[in-house]
Amino acid sequence: MGSLVRLNAALDWIDLNDRLADIGCDHGYLAIEALKKGIPFVQLIDNKEGPLNVARNNLNKYDYNNKTKFTLASGLLELDSKVNCVAILGMGGELIINILEEGYEKSSNVNKFILEANTKVPSLRKYLFNNKYEIVSEKIVKENNKYYELILCKKTNSIIEYDDLDIEFGPILRKEKSPIFIEKWTNVYNKYQNIINKSEIIPDKLVKDCKMIEEIL
Ligand SMILES: C[S@@+](CC[C@H](N)C(=O)[O-])C[C@H]1O[C@@H](n2cnc3c(N)ncnc32)[C@H](O)[C@@H]1O
Repeated sequence: MGSLVRLNAALDWIDLNDRLADIGCDHGYLAIEALKKGIPFVQLIDNKEGPLNVARNNLNKYDYNNKTKFTLASGLLELDSKVNCVAILGMGGELIINILEEGYEKSSNVNKFILEANTKVPSLRKYLFNNKYEIVSEKIVKENNKYYELILCKKTNSIIEYDDLDIEFGPILRKEKSPIFIEKWTNVYNKYQNIINKSEIIPDKLVKDCKMIEEIL
């Protein structure tokens, strides 16, 4: 099943009474681990038959038939009304934004969104801030030498205040400054500094990014 650091970080936020939908379930590993933990229901959703069949085969090794529902659909469009917790992991930030956007009405019963974008995390955070999703927790983990940032959020009626550093680094991550967070941004900083040192013309964006990193480290 490979390493589960990233999926376990998401699993930690899933409580025993949560009814989960795993959007883009692929292999179904998150569903398997959540069911092993003891949750009562998982809807496995993927928009391609291949991954959904792989998930079905993986789940068939266990006796969870009465607790699972497999759905071939895009994003949240066929979300079961029982679901209160949605996980959207391992996709690009823009795709996650599209899924949240097109499924806004469908997810009115959802009080927990667990998100992990493998690209454009700042764009995702900006979307959440501007669309009244409150970020209630964040985590950064490292798996196979890659860093993954996970977001736990919920819809709110309040206007959310944020700044550029919140968008770039995460409002909670930048305050917690965990060792993995420091490691990631120190590496990025050193990489940018190397580029600056070797360049004759230094792009403004790089200088600005370095200043931001200096502010949070
Ligand atoms: C890279 S895999 C990630 C799998 C798993 N969530 C994880 O984090 O390990 C992305 C999965 O999302 C599915 N997918 C892509 N776009 C989707 C959409 N709009 N709705 C549902 N599933 C989608 C793909 O078919 C694929 O199985």
